[in-house]
Amino acid sequence: MTQDEMKRTAAREAVKYLSIGDVVGVGTGSTTNYFIEELSEWGGAVGAIASSEATADRLRNCGVPILDLNGVESFSVYVDGADEINHKLEMIKGGGGALTREKIVAAVAKTFICIVDETKVVDVLGQFPLPVEVLPMAASYVSRVIRGLGGDPEIRKNFVTDNGNVILDTYGLSIENAVELERKLNNVVGVVTNGLFSERPADLMVVGGANGIKVTRS
Ligand code: 5RP
Repeated sequence: MTQDEMKRTAAREAVKYLSIGDVVGVGTGSTTNYFIEELSEWGGAVGAIASSEATADRLRNCGVPILDLNGVESFSVYVDGADEINHKLEMIKGGGGALTREKIVAAVAKTFICIVDETKVVDVLGQFPLPVEVLPMAASYVSRVIRGLGGDPEIRKNFVTDNGNVILDTYGLSIENAVELERKLNNVVGVVTNGLFSERPADLMVVGGANGIKVTRS
């Protein structure tokens, strides 16, 4: 089975956790793109909250109505991929640069379902460079602070987020205490969000693998 097939299998499985009439939060990335196709085919959602402009475009093209998060007090399920996920269901996200809106949508959802292929499951987070979204004028300052924390930040080239900011991809971190690092980075002035999703981890991890689907609850 290819990695794309594993992603699609996980995406298909996630639809089983939805109920007719749900508002569904939708993440960003190639795994989520498979989920959008499955969601549209299923047809039971009344609307979707998009975590990026790219996802909003795809949802519209698939005929799924887009809802404004400000008009929704809460909703049942958020489905998104991850760059890495550990056994506590803490994640690194933001490979696609949508981390801030993803974190906002995840915060409002009652249940966060993370859909991944088996290559994304790790014991310790940090092999994947941690994305940190930063206001452009703060990029050098935040880079110095990150170096002081033991990371090696590189500004993502030719990339501006949906919010008009830049991303520092941070190499060289072995993240034993994700909650502590998530808080520390969010406290640095100029940082908008970092890609650690540990204060609000996933509730359910759906892994597509060579031997089928594995579901883990937090
Ligand atoms: C985007 C993300 C994605 O969920 C993450 O990068 C995984 O992407 P893919 O499903 O393409 O492997 O956080 O900001």
